[in-house]
Amino acid sequence: MSHQTVIVLDFGGQYNQLIARRIRECGVYCEVKPHTTPLAQLKAMNPIGIVFTGGPGSVYLEDSPQVDRDIFTWGVPILGICYGCQLMAHALGGLVTPAQDDAAREYGKTPTWYDTSCKLFQGLPGQGVSWMSHGDYMARVPEGFALTARSGSCPNVAIADEARGFYGVQFHPEVNHTEHGLAMIRNFLYAVCGARGDWTMGDYKKTAIAQVREQIGSGRVLLALSGGVDSSVVAALLAEAVGRQLTCVFVDHGLMRLNEGDEVEAAFSRWDINFIRVDAESRFLLRLAGVEEPERKRKLIGEEFIRVFEEQAKQVGAVDFLAQGTIYPDIIESGAGSAAVIKSHHNVGGLPDYVDFKQIVEPLRLLFKDEVRQLGRELGLPEYLVSRQPFPGPGLAIRIIGDVTKEKADMLRQADFIFREELARAGADKALNQYFAVLTNTRSVGVMGDGRTYDYTLALRAVTTSDFMTADWARIPYEVLDKISVRIVNEVRGVNRIVYDITSKPPATIEWE
Ligand code: XMP
Repeated sequence: MSHQTVIVLDFGGQYNQLIARRIRECGVYCEVKPHTTPLAQLKAMNPIGIVFTGGPGSVYLEDSPQVDRDIFTWGVPILGICYGCQLMAHALGGLVTPAQDDAAREYGKTPTWYDTSCKLFQGLPGQGVSWMSHGDYMARVPEGFALTARSGSCPNVAIADEARGFYGVQFHPEVNHTEHGLAMIRNFLYAVCGARGDWTMGDYKKTAIAQVREQIGSGRVLLALSGGVDSSVVAALLAEAVGRQLTCVFVDHGLMRLNEGDEVEAAFSRWDINFIRVDAESRFLLRLAGVEEPERKRKLIGEEFIRVFEEQAKQVGAVDFLAQGTIYPDIIESGAGSAAVIKSHHNVGGLPDYVDFKQIVEPLRLLFKDEVRQLGRELGLPEYLVSRQPFPGPGLAIRIIGDVTKEKADMLRQADFIFREELARAGADKALNQYFAVLTNTRSVGVMGDGRTYDYTLALRAVTTSDFMTADWARIPYEVLDKISVRIVNEVRGVNRIVYDITSKPPATIEWE
């Protein structure tokens, strides 16, 4: 099935991926392209509309990102956001200047009034808050454009030439701070570009399966399955598409959460594929024995993983394809300047050196994370796999402070399970983005029954975050924390004290190591 496409033309703004995600949320497929992409290439994509993103530049400066002027005579609707709006105004004969005073240099949440007879704002309340972040000002708008929104200090917050399908907004409709922002994007897509809303994960599943079948033919595919969302969804897609031509190697390093290895294996038992589960716990623990330094732990685990995988790959023999769980945010090219960096090969680093294969298959390379989860659901993967929180590659090894032993790993696994179970029972897990237990290297005196104990202190960590770059510690209700504490101390031998981590990131990190 072919679907309609919108192009997000990237001028280097910080919210560009968010724009693309919002468009896809509205059921319309889109791709992010650098602003330097030749017009012929954009035309070949046959888009129904184009969005110019924001960007750090100033359109009147010579070295600022520009656009091929012929884009404006092509006949495709354009929505310009912030820099994109100014660029359109500048290119079509308007005048953009540095804002003369602070009032015109708007930043933050700004009360805004909309002309709801404009297609972009139809069906919206006439007033709302919009998120501004611009230092330039449209002193004169181009001929043919009407002013369609204003703020207290700025009469031309939005402009429109409805005959040509050109719209521009100085604010950012893609961020949540802009009330009705999503409705504006939806209006652009459906009322202006004539979108049909033909981008659904159910349809995409069929397309992706057909594409993968075509690419792989009768070839053999190898996948390193970690049990994380991305590799699990790749595995399910390939299982559905090519069945026994797929070999999944799942390395169980013994540092997973309770029952995790079994759950991953169970999730794939419904497909007839070659599923190799390698129980490598003792190998990993041996390598880690006596190692206390976090970075050293990471390095050893990474190396050992490669070794185990390599051995398995050798046994499987030559394969035609190596599958990777690369997702769209990994490959989007930066639109900032001519030195566009493609990050696509971060994910692939290392592997090709020691696995005998001809080509890479990356069936998720056009999907955002939330779409990957949705595709996983469509493919019938259990919810605990598709909605799971991030789990670091080195696993519990970096949640056991100091040296790692099997006893400590078992203790932590059990405590972590209780923590997660009680959070779920209280319904408190939904609001959290990551939560886990940490076994500290501190022991303290306690009293249990009539006896004195000298056992480990266990820390609980729960955070809310949207990007994992910054995070806030979660305000879990005291009663829930109390229940968790009582259960862990009673049920997990070797732990006699529970603390809750109330540090945000920064200054702390999410993990303890
Ligand atoms: P920090 O601790 O840096 O963590 O605030 C941010 C996010 O990254 C995850 N994380 C890792 N993931 N290998 C991974 O695959 C690692 O070595 C690693 N260290 C941290 C962490 O769980 C959090 O989601």
